[in-house]
Amino acid sequence: MSINGVPISETPASKNYTMTSPLFNMRSKVIVVTGGAAGIGYATAALLVSQGAKVAIANINQTKLDEAEAELRAQCKEGGEIMATLVDVRSRADVDGWIEGVVKKWGKLDGAVNMAGIIPKCIFTERVEDLNDEDWQLVIDVRASSSACFFDALLGIGRLDR
Ligand SMILES: NC(=O)c1ccc[n+]([C@@H]2O[C@H](COP(=O)([O-])OP(=O)(O)OC[C@H]3O[C@@H](n4cnc5c(N)ncnc54)[C@H](O)[C@@H]3O)[C@@H](O)[C@H]2O)c1
Repeated sequence: MSINGVPISETPASKNYTMTSPLFNMRSKVIVVTGGAAGIGYATAALLVSQGAKVAIANINQTKLDEAEAELRAQCKEGGEIMATLVDVRSRADVDGWIEGVVKKWGKLDGAVNMAGIIPKCIFTERVEDLNDEDWQLVIDVRASSSACFFDALLGIGRLDR
């Protein structure tokens, strides 16, 4: 691979950074990740645990959660740890209980990733103007409304710096 004809390993950026672990100093950082059992949330959690972070993933699907927990545990390096909790991000009680549990277990919170989300069932089968209200409301509830109780819990129970 090259950039403007310069091999990537020869660029100034490459020379200043090593590509061996750990890429980032995440050792002892505590990070919570919603939607952490699949997709972008899972990939984020995998990178973080491999760089030494303590990562708490939350997901609505127990089967996916169990599989992800086992896979992520195998990827923990540099002191990285994984904790998996069944959470529906639309539920304030679920989110509060999860964040409380993380702070109780690891004593602090350094960062948060909100990646839980869904794609409406109709998106590949209907035209945009045919999106039904029920599916649309579900998408909004999971992505937008849940953010309010997630960040509320982080700032309150999690005492994440504002
Ligand atoms: N992947 C992409 O290219 C892309 C592009 C643009 C936007 N997005 C958006 O980013 C978000 C994440 O995308 P992804 O590709 O990682 O999706 P994904 O489906 O692979 O992962 C999302 C995870 O969120 C979980 N989830 C759904 N509802 C939940 C709930 N109520 N509580 C807890 N967990 C819940 C799902 O079980 C799933 O494990 C989605 O909102 C998606 O629409 C993704």
